[in-house]
Amino acid sequence: MPYSTDMNILAIETSCDETALSIIKTSEDNKNFKVLSDIVISQIEIHAEYGGVFPALAKREHAKNLGPLLRQALIEAHLYTESITTLTNKDEVKIILEREPELFDGLTLLLETIEQPDIDMIMVTHGPGLAPALWVGVNFARALSLFWDIPIVPVNHMEGHITSILLKKDYLHQEMALQLPTDFNFPMISLLISGGHTQLVLVKDWGEYEIIGETTDDAVGEAFDKVARMLDMKYPGGPKISKAAAAGQENELIQLPRPMLHSKDYRFSFSGLKTAVRYLIVDLKKQELYSDQIIADIAREFEHAVTDVLIKKTSQAIEEYAAQGLIIAGGVSANDFISASFRNLTEKYGIELYLPEKRMCGDNSLMIATAGFIGMMYKKNTTISQRELVALSNLKL
Ligand code: KG4
Ligand code: ZN
Repeated sequence: MPYSTDMNILAIETSCDETALSIIKTSEDNKNFKVLSDIVISQIEIHAEYGGVFPALAKREHAKNLGPLLRQALIEAHLYTESITTLTNKDEVKIILEREPELFDGLTLLLETIEQPDIDMIMVTHGPGLAPALWVGVNFARALSLFWDIPIVPVNHMEGHITSILLKKDYLHQEMALQLPTDFNFPMISLLISGGHTQLVLVKDWGEYEIIGETTDDAVGEAFDKVARMLDMKYPGGPKISKAAAAGQENELIQLPRPMLHSKDYRFSFSGLKTAVRYLIVDLKKQELYSDQIIADIAREFEHAVTDVLIKKTSQAIEEYAAQGLIIAGGVSANDFISASFRNLTEKYGIELYLPEKRMCGDNSLMIATAGFIGMMYKKNTTISQRELVALSNLKL
């Protein structure tokens, strides 16, 4: 469809344990946008008890959060006007939200008391992620699409992480929040490290990706979380391991393997590393050597082991594909030791390193708006109708 200028776009993200909504306003030339509102509600506290994300609980929380979050997003974007509105299509929406009755009630209550807001399009994560969690966002998008008679652009969550580096430093206060996508030299390599994924991606251009390698078992963030649990740290363990590691020292008693370091391909494996930590802890406890300092030393060695493998495989990819730049994204990219190690690496190769702003490392919906926008403006992705939209938990780039 031909895109009008000056559109307001609502972006939705519910693939894991963050419920997020953003509203962006596209510029007149359609080459950039301004952020009107950007909200993330983290369910970390709720899942901490379970030591990881519990899908049924994530789904319930998303369904509970989305109505109030939409109200807040519209208010922040100055698109909220109270008024009595009659909703058509209510029966059809009720069927769409059959499994999220609480969301149906919250949503209709809100929409019946406001004017139809000036939103022209919806962008929503349709995969990859936890199926029950994804479906809430997808069905929410479908409901809004029906109520407001506007189209939907489905967005790949991993493309969201990649394009998160396009947001300028103070994106919340910029008329043009986006760094020009034309400022980049291709090909680039992107290392995506999150709780659910560990992937090396060849970025041929925006929207043109090829996965060259991924983990055969645990994702990096998952390994951080599991090891943290063994060290009695609360979920999510990544930031806690990273904090403990800063006080760690080299210790000859604590040596961990670097799995797949010499495998010559781009596959990763972190489950053996996690098991090695488990045995190490048992052994140290048996020898009555377990202490806070030892915990810090283990955290440090674990962080080093993970980083060594990530650096080795990424260097190999940079060389093989003559990459002009390196993008590191996903929740684990918030790790200071890992990002500093990649800074050294890219300096050695004389290529650019692109990291998201800290606030953009974890899951959020602004990265979904960014990926959707790039896809639409530069790659001419098409919009779809709500009927065609489904959640795809194993969606590939
Ligand atoms: O991208 P993300 O927010 O969610 C997924 O899509 O999975 O990533 C979350 C992951 C969690 O495993 C968390 O422990 C990890 O990112 N993480 C970190 C750090 N901050 C978050 N891992 C290591 N060091 C950190 N500083
Ligand atoms: Zn993610």
